[in-house]
Amino acid sequence: MKNLKNILQDARKNHYAIGQFNISTFEQLKGIFGAVNALRTPVIIGTSEGEAKFLGIEEISALIKIAEKKYKIPFFLNLDHGKDLALIKKAVDCGYSAVHFDGSSFPFEENARYTKEVIKYARKKSVLIEGELGAIKGESGIHQKKVILTEDDLTSPEQAKKFADLTNVDCLAIAVGTTHGMYKEEKGIDFERLGNISCLTMKKFLVLHGGSGISEEDIKKAIDLGIVKININTEIRLIWRDCLEKKLRENQEETKPYKLLADIKDAIQKKVEEKIRMFETRACK
Ligand code: G3H
Ligand code: ZN
Repeated sequence: MKNLKNILQDARKNHYAIGQFNISTFEQLKGIFGAVNALRTPVIIGTSEGEAKFLGIEEISALIKIAEKKYKIPFFLNLDHGKDLALIKKAVDCGYSAVHFDGSSFPFEENARYTKEVIKYARKKSVLIEGELGAIKGESGIHQKKVILTEDDLTSPEQAKKFADLTNVDCLAIAVGTTHGMYKEEKGIDFERLGNISCLTMKKFLVLHGGSGISEEDIKKAIDLGIVKININTEIRLIWRDCLEKKLRENQEETKPYKLLADIKDAIQKKVEEKIRMFETRACK
């Protein structure tokens, strides 16, 4: 079976992206399994530190291995925005395919030093490492107001090159205008900055965070400019909450979880399929 590196290389060569969909419940996971099986395309399943702790790193890793056998297609697991080195090491040891070390709150040199520490540990086990440079602000949820970004929050193309050369990280999360979560206004992407980062960090897999609520046109432009991985969380969380509220409202006496949760699985499958088509992710051969 193909590994994540091969797939990201293919995405870069053929101008498409792989979606990372974050989850913290089994019915969300089943929705993703359904989409991958229907379209036969790879995706990355993301767990933030909070999501990973809730699910259990050992449990989610085991479920992914079972899904690979059952559906005969690779499934990739990424620890998203990892800050706790012990948790990152645990994810590596339990078979995660990738780990994202988020050192964005540290000064440049310290961020690079910690990133290299993670690389030293993870690469021995062929786990891909995502570093982060720039501040990708906000939380994955619904917000009243747009987060205001300053020049200092955004990734400088020159610094990105320096960081990439210094650390030799595989994937790089960059701050090019998107923030986590959704709000009334549209998210904007600084395409010029993205293009410059792309030119200067040729061999790195660039990651777009805050993927919820971005228009199809902007997504396609970002992929054209070198984005190969797009992270989506809020849209998945929102479906979960909206479907559950609706079902509970309409079935006040129902106590069977599998009756209340089935629609969530179907709605998430539909959303993930929509994103896979939008990202033009190629099917696994
Ligand atoms: O790391 C996760 C993503 O960046 C999620 O962002 O909640 O805006 O989809 P989102
Ligand atoms: Zn993120």
